[in-house]
Amino acid sequence: RTDEAEVVVFCVPSYACQRRTTLENHNTILTDALSLLAENAELSDQEGRGVAFRRAAAVLKALPRAVTGVTQLRGLPCLGEHSLRVIKDILETGASAEVESTKQSERYKALKVLTGVFGVGPKTAERWIRERIHTLQQLQDSGHTLNRAQQAGLQHYDDLNQPVAKAEADAIAEVVERAVVSVSPGAQVTLTGGFRRGKPTGHDVDFLITHPEEGREDGLMSKVVSWLESQGFLLYQKTTRNSYLESKDGPARPASNMDRFERCFSIFKLHEDEGRGTGHPGTPTGNTAAANTGSLGDSDSRSQIRGGEQRLLVSGEDGGPEETKPAGHRPWRAVRVDLVVSPISQFAFALLGWTGSKLFERELRRWAGHEKSMSLSSHALYDNKQSRYLRATSEQEIFAHLGLEFVPPSERNA
Ligand code: GTP
Ligand code: MN
Ligand code: MN
Repeated sequence: RTDEAEVVVFCVPSYACQRRTTLENHNTILTDALSLLAENAELSDQEGRGVAFRRAAAVLKALPRAVTGVTQLRGLPCLGEHSLRVIKDILETGASAEVESTKQSERYKALKVLTGVFGVGPKTAERWIRERIHTLQQLQDSGHTLNRAQQAGLQHYDDLNQPVAKAEADAIAEVVERAVVSVSPGAQVTLTGGFRRGKPTGHDVDFLITHPEEGREDGLMSKVVSWLESQGFLLYQKTTRNSYLESKDGPARPASNMDRFERCFSIFKLHEDEGRGTGHPGTPTGNTAAANTGSLGDSDSRSQIRGGEQRLLVSGEDGGPEETKPAGHRPWRAVRVDLVVSPISQFAFALLGWTGSKLFERELRRWAGHEKSMSLSSHALYDNKQSRYLRATSEQEIFAHLGLEFVPPSERNA
C-alpha cells in the first residue's frame, strides 16, 4: 500500500569524494548497465561520455536502497538526460535497448576481446577492428608484429582475464615484501588499489613501496625487480619513470622529486603453494624448478590460449595440427602486478592517488580544482591562491587541506 506521498526521494552531494560509497550496491542492475555504456564510450575514444556515465553510476552506487521509480531521482546530481533514459527504460521495461544492443554488437565484443590483451589499448584495438580483426585467432593469423607486452598479454590471456582473489593478492604481497626487505631492510610495502578498498577480487594487484628515510627509496625499484626476476617470479616487467605519465597534472609536480617516482607494470608467476605457509623454503627457486618439470610446465612455448570460444596455440613450434586440449593442471598462474615507488615525503599523496577508485580520484581532483583552486596529484597538493605546496604526511591531512570529511578506503568505491 504505497501511494505517491510515500515515495522516497534520495539526496546525495554532487562530488563522489563527498560521499561514502561502500561495496554494498543496492542498484547493481542499473549501475552495471551504465558502466557498460561508460566502458563502451571509453573504448571508443569518447572520454566525456564515459565520465558522464561513470558519474551517473556512482550516484546510484551511493544510494541507501534500490531505486524503484524515476520520480525518486528528482534533484539527484550527475544524472543527465541520457543516463535517466537508460534508468527509466530498465525500471519500466526491465531492460535498456541501447545497453542490450551495445552488449551484442560485434564492435563492442571485439573491443572487449582485443583490449583484454595486456598491452592493447583502445586505439590499437580500433585500428585492428578496422582491419576486420575481431578475435584473438584473427589477430594471430593477421601476422601483425606484437610488442613485448602484447606477446606476454596473449600468452597469458586466460590467466590475466580471470579475477585475482584476495588470497592471491596476499600471497603476492608476501613475495613482494620478501623482495623489498631483501634489497632494503627498512623499506615498506603497502597494498593499494581495489584490494585496499576491500574489494574481494581485482584485475591486478597494486603495491606502493617507500622508505622512511627520504632518499633511501632511490634506486629501489630496479633492485626489487632484479630480485624478483632472479627468483623467477616475473613473467614480464616494464619499469618506467612516471614523470610524463602525469603531465596533465600541471603545477602539482615538484620537478626535483619526479625522477624518483617509478612504476613497474609486471606479470607475476604466482605458484600454487606461495603464501600458504606450506613449509616451503625461504627462497622460491625450488618452486620454479618444480614448475619447469611439471607436466605442462613449459608454458612459454606452448601455452593454450583461449579467447572467447576459440582456443589457439600461441607459438606452436611443436604445434602442427595437434588437437587443442585443455591446459590441464599447472602449478602456477599469471597475475598482473603494479609496483610504484614513492619517496616518503610524497607517500600520503601516492597512497591516496593509487587507492582509487578511478572515479573517486578524478572527483577529488575536480573538487580540488573547481572548489578549492588547488591542484592535486599523486605527488603533491598545490594551493593556487597561496602559490605554495601543502604538506601532508597522512591521507587525513590531505582531506583536511581540501576541506573534505575523511573518507576511509572502504568507502571510496565510487
Ligand atoms: P582493479 O585493479 O580492477 O580491481 O581496480 P583498481 O581500483 O585497483 O584499479 P587499477 O589497478 O587500475 O588502479 C588503481 C589506482 O591507481 C586507481 O586509483 C588509478 O586511478 C590509479 N592509477 C592507475 N594508473 C595510474 C597512473 O598512471 N598514474 C597515477 N597517478 N595513478 C594511476
Ligand atoms: Mn588494481
Ligand atoms: Mn593497477
